[in-house]
Amino acid sequence: MPKPKRTIVLKFGGSVLLDERRLRIAVHEIYRWRREGWRVVAVVSALAGRTEELSNQCDELCPNSSDHVRACLLGLGERESSTLLGIHLDRAGIPARMLTPGTVELRAYGPALDAQPESVNCTRINDALDKDGVVVFPGFVALTESGESVTLGRGGSDLSAVFLANQLQADCCRLIKDVDGLYESDPASSDIAPARYQYASYEDALETDGSIIQHKALQFAQTHAIEFELGRFNGTRPTTIGPAESVLNEIPDTTKKLSVGLCGCGTVGGGVLELIEQLPDLFEVTGIARRNPERCCERDNVLITDSATEVARFGADVIIETIGGCKVSLDVATSAITNGADFITANKALIAEYGTDLHILSSHHHKEIRASASVGGAVPVLESLNDDSIVSVKGILNGTGNAILGSLQAGIDFNEAVLDAQAKGFAEADPSRDLDGRDALDKLSVIAQKLGWSINTDDSLGQSLTDWVQQNKPTYPARQIAKLNPNGASVGVELVAASSDYEKTQNEWNIVELMHADGSITTLRGKGAGRWPTSEAVLADLLEVSRIRSDQTHASEVCHV
Ligand code: HSE
Repeated sequence: MPKPKRTIVLKFGGSVLLDERRLRIAVHEIYRWRREGWRVVAVVSALAGRTEELSNQCDELCPNSSDHVRACLLGLGERESSTLLGIHLDRAGIPARMLTPGTVELRAYGPALDAQPESVNCTRINDALDKDGVVVFPGFVALTESGESVTLGRGGSDLSAVFLANQLQADCCRLIKDVDGLYESDPASSDIAPARYQYASYEDALETDGSIIQHKALQFAQTHAIEFELGRFNGTRPTTIGPAESVLNEIPDTTKKLSVGLCGCGTVGGGVLELIEQLPDLFEVTGIARRNPERCCERDNVLITDSATEVARFGADVIIETIGGCKVSLDVATSAITNGADFITANKALIAEYGTDLHILSSHHHKEIRASASVGGAVPVLESLNDDSIVSVKGILNGTGNAILGSLQAGIDFNEAVLDAQAKGFAEADPSRDLDGRDALDKLSVIAQKLGWSINTDDSLGQSLTDWVQQNKPTYPARQIAKLNPNGASVGVELVAASSDYEKTQNEWNIVELMHADGSITTLRGKGAGRWPTSEAVLADLLEVSRIRSDQTHASEVCHV
């Protein structure tokens, strides 16, 4: 039996969403929970300051406008940020469904600018969650029975989140803010650090001034006995708010900033660098190895070199490798781990060939090794394999081949289709690995390793894409299919049925089906190649390492108290 899916409601507040680029933080947090197998409902506030802008605009245009018209205008802030979040998720290759109060019949009653949510069509939301795994929803807004717009009062996205968590009977509801938990008073505006709640009763939470959690949301939670959490992005010890007695004085949920050495600054490495540099509170890049000096400009106090081994030996908390191939990267991996760094790679060839040895080495040195990006880009394939009911795996694991087959179907010439896939950053340095199936076979080997299956891949390559193109009409719907079971693996081009899930997997998207012993299938989807999906997976590994390190520090602090 596959593991049952849990549901989390994550609410992203304006204090986190300072501008459009910061929506990436929401993408990272959503992907964190997705990787762990949760279904995610993301409730989004307006970007910081946007509601005030809209309110001022309304005042200027028509100071005495009707409350419903004002509510409609104010709600544009949340509609804008949730739509932009959908675009960011798409760019990162994470499937998500955009919902609105209209599509899920979110009804509210009472004053137009301070309404109370009443009902929602949970079947619609659950269907979307079952299909896509993530739904994105604008907070703060709802509709009346007669379809007029209302808002849920200042800070109303908190109420949207708690209400949806209650209606969906979600397993967890977490409000992500710019604080690591609930304090007795605002830590930013007092000289002596106020006490932090590990657990806050509704009564004590209602004593705080309402700027951190909307009081109406707290009252709703109290009435319906809903426990929820308040914490920071990538946090591991948020404050829980609920019906029990408060517990104070917990050590804050802060984390040590990790130094990072980056080996490779091309399509993927350059994307990873950009994502890491947007999280200066968590990470500091101390070394970059790049082949092409134009790919990376000088930075103060950062070692910039063309030698990846030099970066790996220079020392950092974490070394990330995005070079590809095995020649240099094996040396980078062993140097990193023996020098005391955790090691993250996007390199399937390295893990397929040397993964077992590297895992032994890293466990000997008590270091973490992660390679999520090596299989399926933003599809959390490796994270979904901790399930001993899996008996076989089947899917499309190569984005380049898939994009080329799609181009051929659209009438584009083969060579042009290959060049296009290379230009989009999907193809390997040597695209023949994509075309003949070796890239997908490496990925199957990495999956087999994780499942503990020892397979021989000598005769695993079937019909290559190049051969298939010569022998068939490009208009046939065909896909490069990868298959794995404990007895072996195979990769080859096959015809697929029109309108099947495989045919619907287009461009650089991947699909992976995990077959369970009871006959059920877990289907995973997402973008499997390209700069942003791959970078997102690398960053997710880095954020996971940061959480592990933070928990270890916390455990040792608790021991010393
Ligand atoms: N060349 C690979 C692909 C990149 O097209 O799938 C992602 O592993």
